[in-house]
Amino acid sequence: MYGRDFTSVLDLTPEELERTLDVALGIKRDGSGPLLAGRHLALLFEKPSLRTRMSFEVAMSRLGGRAIYLNDHEVRMGDREPVRDVARVLSRMVDGIASRTFAHSTLTELAEWASVPVVNALSDGEHPCQALADLLTLRERFGSLRGVHLTYLGEGNNVAISLAYASMLAGMHFTCASPEGYGLPDEVIAQASTLSGGGSVRQLFDPHEAVRGAAAVYTDVWASMGEEHLLASRLEAFGPFKMDAAVMASAPADALVMHDLPAHRGEEISDDVIESEHSVVFDQAENRLHAQQAILLQLMSRPQ
Ligand code: CP
Ligand code: NVA
Repeated sequence: MYGRDFTSVLDLTPEELERTLDVALGIKRDGSGPLLAGRHLALLFEKPSLRTRMSFEVAMSRLGGRAIYLNDHEVRMGDREPVRDVARVLSRMVDGIASRTFAHSTLTELAEWASVPVVNALSDGEHPCQALADLLTLRERFGSLRGVHLTYLGEGNNVAISLAYASMLAGMHFTCASPEGYGLPDEVIAQASTLSGGGSVRQLFDPHEAVRGAAAVYTDVWASMGEEHLLASRLEAFGPFKMDAAVMASAPADALVMHDLPAHRGEEISDDVIESEHSVVFDQAENRLHAQQAILLQLMSRPQ
């Protein structure tokens, strides 16, 4: 994976996904040496972040390198200067770029013009680093990912799309349940079905049917960053998909509770469910750090 971009889960083969999780588990257990000493990672974020920014910054520090955070109010990609110029300037100064963009096309343009690896720190298309941390969390719990049934309730956008692809590669069974009109895009389901790895992806519209038999139930906000103005018009349609005691009563009693955070308690998830003994949301958050180190190591450290 050395020198490559990671803008989508689709950039990985099943073997590369598994190896990245192995590396992350090893780092979590044994720590990591200064394998990226002297290396710099630019963090170029168009949207706010807690977990993603911190996990990249601490990951680079633990690996002996340095992350430099650039606020897009200053850089103004595509406004103060073209995305392709930002990509080429940063490539002359740093060894990698992690970027959080509104449009996925901004990220792919950065990747096209940068000569250093570009990592997706969340776009409107995908959240691949989150999916790796989530699979790491499931692997810790279940030992193997093969055959694990993960159900996602909510909008079939960035987080769900990366989980769908990652589930296919890992041999998991992924169910997305959404209000009509908010499911996984047809092209994502079609693309997922072409992936090797032995998994499956399906789209349902009934939350109770979707959580039946699930080993883990996952949700995300009902209106993503930059789309908060759409929330009011969605509340009625999304209401039945709220991860609350009523929906969880249709799931196995020991089903794990997952959320990428930040959570809007009382909207997509109830306080009692996110605080329940089956909640692994803070394991997911911690695992962002371990997964990030594994990703950065593989993209930025020259194989011996
Ligand atoms: N889950 C996640 O990406 O969190 P942040 O938006 O805080 O980075
Ligand atoms: N779907 C959410 C994920 C945040 C981590 C968003 O895009 O805002």
